[in-house]
Amino acid sequence: MTLRDAVLVALKDKNGQWVSGEALSEILKVSRTTVWKQIKTLQAEGYEVDSSPKKGYRLSSPPDLLSPGEVCPGLTTEVLGRKHYFYFQEIDSTNNQARDLAATGYPEGTVVVAEMQTAGRGRRGRSWYSPAIKGIYLSVILRPILPLKEISRVSLVTAVAVAETLKEELNLKPCIKWPNDILINNRKIAGILSEAVTDMDGVEYIVTGVGLNINNPAQTFPSDFRTTATSALAEYDHPGSRVKVLQGLLASLESHYFQLLSGNFARTLEKYKSMSIAIGQELRLDTINGFIVGQAIDVDDNGFLIVRDHSGNIHTIMSGEISISPPSR
Ligand code: BTN
Repeated sequence: MTLRDAVLVALKDKNGQWVSGEALSEILKVSRTTVWKQIKTLQAEGYEVDSSPKKGYRLSSPPDLLSPGEVCPGLTTEVLGRKHYFYFQEIDSTNNQARDLAATGYPEGTVVVAEMQTAGRGRRGRSWYSPAIKGIYLSVILRPILPLKEISRVSLVTAVAVAETLKEELNLKPCIKWPNDILINNRKIAGILSEAVTDMDGVEYIVTGVGLNINNPAQTFPSDFRTTATSALAEYDHPGSRVKVLQGLLASLESHYFQLLSGNFARTLEKYKSMSIAIGQELRLDTINGFIVGQAIDVDDNGFLIVRDHSGNIHTIMSGEISISPPSR
């Protein structure tokens, strides 16, 4: 255990009570200046450590950082985050980092997590708002052996895992907007960006990236999506544990992903459909080839949206953007 870890453990053991610098230096057998330096390091990492010349130090609130020290001991996964868990206080994009790692051969299950992204990427060239210590910015390297036509299943698997985690860990009631936006009360709480590198033989790797708004106060969202975005805090009015949500998400993602690999995607697809807000709706669907107005009648077992247009033609759509209340034709 490093000295930094030992100071953290000693502070945690006090459950929010003060511990003097002298007591810490005795327990850890180092000088008080050395203790103070470790406290500075923890504060710089984002731990809320109060210091008082008379009382010493205390962890003022339970740490909710996504560092390996906080997350990994409580992981219940077999593979995800077990061998390689990369943690950044700040990064451009966890998906960029995971793609670089995957390209250099990092294995399935490698996890990249950041407290903040300076260039978080969304679908269709959009950016993802990623303020420090408010959300979860996660990318996971997967190397599924799947035929190319089935790779969209991985992003459906991720969507179900995110929605299930929000239900189980935060008691929220999420819906999925095809293909993989997670909504609460019609506002987006999470988005998924799955990026695949393929070759002639199939999938080389997929980076599945998740951005989840947890403790963002509603008024702090940038004005251009203040009316369309939400967070667990905004819905619930009290902060959620990002550590628990991340642990739950990795467990749920692994479980659905393993089922997919063992040929058992049907149950995940059923869950997806039960949370889908598209199926049965009149909608407008924008694709790279133009737009279609019609009724979404199903999501097929490759994750494609089936739409019947107003002339009765059936369209099977692999990728696009839906708006549920279509403008008049
Ligand atoms: C979307 O809804 O447009 C997808 C948003 C995906 C955002 C996440 S945050 C973690 C990962 N890194 C990124 O740069 N993007 C994804």
